[in-house]
Amino acid sequence: MSGQLIVVSNRIPTAATPSGGLVYALHETLRKTGGIWIGSDPDLRPHASKSLKEIGDQSNYRRLAFELTQEDYDTFYLGFANSVLWPVCHRRGDLVQISRRYEKGYRRVNRHLAEQIMKVAEPDDLIWVHDYHFFPLALELRALGFTGKLGFFLHIPFPALGDLGALPPTADLARWLAAFDLVGLQTRSDVARCLELFRSEFGAELMNDGKIKYGEQRIAVRSFPIGIDVEAFVDAASQELDDTGIARALPRELVIGVDRLDYSKGLPNRFRAFGRFLEMRTDKSRRPSLLQIAPPTREEVSAYRDIRHELEELSGRVNGENADLDWTPVRYIHRNIDRNVLAKLFRKARVGLVTPFADGMNLVAKEYIAAQDPDDPGVLVLSRMAGAAEEMTQALQVNPYDIEEMSEALARALDMPLDERKRRYASCMERVKATDVAHWSETYLKALSASRDKMSWSNFNAEARSDA
Ligand code: G6P
Repeated sequence: MSGQLIVVSNRIPTAATPSGGLVYALHETLRKTGGIWIGSDPDLRPHASKSLKEIGDQSNYRRLAFELTQEDYDTFYLGFANSVLWPVCHRRGDLVQISRRYEKGYRRVNRHLAEQIMKVAEPDDLIWVHDYHFFPLALELRALGFTGKLGFFLHIPFPALGDLGALPPTADLARWLAAFDLVGLQTRSDVARCLELFRSEFGAELMNDGKIKYGEQRIAVRSFPIGIDVEAFVDAASQELDDTGIARALPRELVIGVDRLDYSKGLPNRFRAFGRFLEMRTDKSRRPSLLQIAPPTREEVSAYRDIRHELEELSGRVNGENADLDWTPVRYIHRNIDRNVLAKLFRKARVGLVTPFADGMNLVAKEYIAAQDPDDPGVLVLSRMAGAAEEMTQALQVNPYDIEEMSEALARALDMPLDERKRRYASCMERVKATDVAHWSETYLKALSASRDKMSWSNFNAEARSDA
């Protein structure tokens, strides 16, 4: 890599060591490579500055923030990113909220961000852009004259052609993506859907080298399944729970789920399946508990408020129907729990439930496996719709819409003999290790460095400006 690495993601941590999927993965990457991490400032401003500002104090890389106004936040983040692109990519066209204001805000924030990046980027720097907040960022950077290598990684599912119909016509994903040298996706199925989009666009051809020819441009589209820092997680999970209060309060048969409270995570069906399992069990002296940790997210968007109410109602119902004086079947925690504590809870849990309707990868599935005791591992029940299912074929895979099937899988997991548990764990763990976070970033950055420079960017100038 000749120049420095510049990583761009909307979310940027303010804590020295961040927790959570995407930010943790990027922090781990930058700790090794050095460079700059650019993300949005969580404090909104009446007027957004035109320059990036230094935040935090990292020993081996810089964190720079771009400012947003309330209008930017409402239209770019809550609006176009999370009320249009997120539902489209998660097959929830019914939740899409189309608004010209959102479209304009999204393009404006991407354009302003490109201008600010140009002030810090050198021509031979490598820019790695993350996620759906920034689909048009490369087009904007090219329009401003950036000729260096530009990579994109989409952490969420790539939408199918049919679902793209729910986007407004100005959202031209193919043209936006074509301004990148490398488009990285989570799974092979995502790559297939992306190729389908490019093929359906006039003039896009698949070349022998696997790249796509779109007008004058060549774009590489490949899958890079994201992973976790396996060693660190194994280590955290192997420590004793210091809080004996927590340890004592845990039931013998613990079932665990950890997800942001998002409608894509399939939580209501998970609660229904757990309720169904309790109803169907023949041995009523058996008292498992489902510990569901679901921290709040994007609460200003109405679909997220709705899912919260639905879940509160459901957990109340399952408990009302099944609880006893000394037993709470569903323990639902609506806040963040420290990562190190989570690792230990995963290890204690006999079953990990990861049952999204749609998910780019789902790192909780990988964390649950990494946390297990190899001599007495628990069982992962995994939705076929999670990206992780492509590799973790030895998890108990389920259809997250099928309550009956999930309830049966739960019963099977809780009764699974040790030999089978060990065999399934070993197979999943082998994949978790083979695709850890270091492998993810190294293979991606190697592919981006090796990607060919664009021939000419002059045609993007006119195009980018015409629809800005
Ligand atoms: C997903 C997305 C990330 C996002 C995260 C948390 O993992 O892929 O881009 O940062 O959710 O969502 P939030 O809206 O709180 O950043």
